[in-house]
Amino acid sequence: MHELLTTPLEDPAAWRGDRMAERSDWIVTLDETMVAELESAVAAVAARGIELFEVTRPDFPLPRMSGHFETMLRELEGGRGFALLRGLPVAQWSDAENRIAIWGLGTHLGLPVGQDLAGNLLHDVRDTGRRFGSDDSIRYYQTNHAIRLHTDGGDVFALGCVRQGAKGGRSLVVSAVEVFNEIVRRRPDLAVVLQENFWMDARGQRPDGARCQVLPIYTRHDGHLSILLKPEYIDSAQRFDEVPRLTDAQREALDLFHRITQEPGVALEFDLRPGDVLLASNHTIMHGRTGFEDASEPTHGRHMLRLWLTIPNGRPLPSHYADTREYAQTYRQRMPA
Ligand SMILES: [Fe+2]
Repeated sequence: MHELLTTPLEDPAAWRGDRMAERSDWIVTLDETMVAELESAVAAVAARGIELFEVTRPDFPLPRMSGHFETMLRELEGGRGFALLRGLPVAQWSDAENRIAIWGLGTHLGLPVGQDLAGNLLHDVRDTGRRFGSDDSIRYYQTNHAIRLHTDGGDVFALGCVRQGAKGGRSLVVSAVEVFNEIVRRRPDLAVVLQENFWMDARGQRPDGARCQVLPIYTRHDGHLSILLKPEYIDSAQRFDEVPRLTDAQREALDLFHRITQEPGVALEFDLRPGDVLLASNHTIMHGRTGFEDASEPTHGRHMLRLWLTIPNGRPLPSHYADTREYAQTYRQRMPA
């Protein structure tokens, strides 16, 4: 079912950031009637006092937006791999209402999956003042560090911006398929290396307690090319004695990979503004951000709400994703009943 890919892949998810920046069809701006619809859905849930994670699609009717949801799902799987929803009235909502809004939108796009060992379904992405390296389980979303390009878990993540930081924190997205194609063109031998196993630090998040997971960065499976990569966690896995040292070929492959992602025109860079929701496939799109500084008042800092979703039109997953902390739940959800 999965086979080595040694030629560039023609795929709508292979795109360059400079081309993408010239167009705006990846942005869906809510019109007034859609905003009104969303406001009443949020108000209805808030008034009923339903437990947030028990809110399902029928509790959150958005008939005017259903066409957009269909289009976005087709773009997320089978299209360019990402979309930006713009215009949520976040400033007028309380924290609780913002959580209802992102959760409610999520119910129209897929099934939420747990984002950590505890199974939390909705994460706050903000600076907790903690520093990566201070504790083995600290994860990047809890800091103000720049975050190198990586993938999350579930088919798709939804990142809703409630507040921007005072400075920095620009969002970056890159097509992992385009980067693969460039690697194959330049160094087909290294494209093969990236389809072989790497050891990645599991950051204490695996249900089976394993400290690392071992799997390829790129997997060609059932006609799809998927990436799973957290570069920092490949580096931090090297602290464990049982982990083999990276080979020269692996280092060279990772270097080429990072060099290409940093070449002018490869990444799409933009500001995620309050009221924006970035949706992106974790199979084909890498994302990251520049470092940021917050205002001194902690309640005014950069704040994002994040969901991981299994989408109804998701691709078949390779068997080596079955136990990963990123895809175990999605893998099970996709199994025939
Ligand atoms: Fe992420």
